[in-house]
Amino acid sequence: MTTLTPILTERWDKEQSWKLATYEKHGGYSALRKGLKMDPAEVLEAVKTSGLRGRGGAGFPTGMKWSFLPAPDGGPRYLVVNADEAEPGTCKDVPLMMADPHLLVEGIILTSWAIGCNHAFVYLRGEVVHVYRRLLAAVEEARAAGYLGENILGTGFDLKITVHTGAGAYICGEETALLDSLEGKRGQPRLKPPFPAVAGLYGRPTVVNNVESIASVPAIVEHGSDWFSSMGTEKSTGHGIFSLSGHVERPGQYEAPLGITLRELIEMAGGMRGGRKLKFWTPGGSSTPIFTEEHLDVPLDFESVAAAGSMLGTRALQIFDETTSVVRAVTRWTEFYAHESCGKCTPCREGTFWMRAVLLRLEAGKGEPGDIELLVDVCDNILGRAFCALGDGATSPVTSAIQYFREEFEAGMHTPASVLFPPERSALFDYVPSGDAGLVAGVH
Ligand SMILES: Cc1cc2nc3c(=O)[nH]c(=O)nc-3n(C[C@H](O)[C@H](O)[C@H](O)COP(=O)(O)O)c2cc1C
Ligand code: SF4
Repeated sequence: MTTLTPILTERWDKEQSWKLATYEKHGGYSALRKGLKMDPAEVLEAVKTSGLRGRGGAGFPTGMKWSFLPAPDGGPRYLVVNADEAEPGTCKDVPLMMADPHLLVEGIILTSWAIGCNHAFVYLRGEVVHVYRRLLAAVEEARAAGYLGENILGTGFDLKITVHTGAGAYICGEETALLDSLEGKRGQPRLKPPFPAVAGLYGRPTVVNNVESIASVPAIVEHGSDWFSSMGTEKSTGHGIFSLSGHVERPGQYEAPLGITLRELIEMAGGMRGGRKLKFWTPGGSSTPIFTEEHLDVPLDFESVAAAGSMLGTRALQIFDETTSVVRAVTRWTEFYAHESCGKCTPCREGTFWMRAVLLRLEAGKGEPGDIELLVDVCDNILGRAFCALGDGATSPVTSAIQYFREEFEAGMHTPASVLFPPERSALFDYVPSGDAGLVAGVH
């Protein structure tokens, strides 16, 4: 059985884990002292050879991304940390920044050193005001301690960190829409190429990385790339946070080597709630095709999940038991995509609108003949034709759910999902149908 590897999450349960004093007491900023004595190119090489792949969803090799920056031309180059985290089910970056903001700050300083950046940004989802305050306080603590600002630890290296809050749009997690939003424009994706490495923030060379990717850097610098690549699989090295939500006994964050299976994770999470049967799950958030019980032993690494027909994504494992209507779940996700579609391109703007309309009538048991074919056809016309990955992602839950549970969509021609799967069976708490008490405590 694979065991947990608490590295990013190591300090989360320490008293006042977010404070500089706590961070330093548990080894914090020692990687920075080591990294600043190394040549920037050596730090970059360590990250490259570690095999670290982006933890924001696509899994692009982090060190390789950094090496795409053109040679210095005397002008600014930027690091932008993507802390938008809006994918349904994804919930790892916010707790990381809340519990251990200095880990991210240390990762930012090391990355900036490696790529020659003197001004880094964190683009944070604006709703998480408490995280914003924690980050601001951490940046200020680090500055006062000499880890940020001018002449960091006497090395002559200068770095400023700006923490920016977005206004809560899923599309602003897409890296180029994020850059437009950061520049004060409406957040919509840019045409690529040019890629951010060449023309990013304010048209300058820019690295955009996920919070967890950057937070993984200090341990790589501290312990070396061989240490990192000794965990995980050959092509998906290292450790990562697996976020289990939904119908398990102990939902939460489980940090483990890539390649662990859902069967192992569910066991660590105390099993399915109430001993019920697993019905379906997402390996990496709602934009990744769903899996079923037959995929319990698929190693959760980039290659194995792709070979089994889905994507590792953000390791947001949303677990649904047999009491759940797949039609209802997919309809909720599609409502999200229709709402969050930025409207820039027709396939996604129109397609998500129509998918939502068809799914709502199937959920209500008022589906019309040909509705399933219509859904598949609309998905076909979005996938690969949309301007950005939001459109593609919107089709994943629909097509995969039809693939595995077609009969439930067929039932939507005559029977409402609420009759086939009464919500009270699925509720986490005892359901009181009348009166205003609604749900009362008492976990099943
Ligand atoms: C609609 C959409 C939303 C996204 N949201 C996020 C996000 O919240 N956080 C994130 O790191 N990446 C998100 N991404 C992926 C980013 O575009 C980008 O690939 C990522 O920030 C790169 O970082 P990484 O290489 O460290 O994974 C999103 C992509 C799309 C298409
Ligand atoms: S796919 Fe959707 S979110 Fe992306 S550009 Fe087109 S309309 Fe906007």
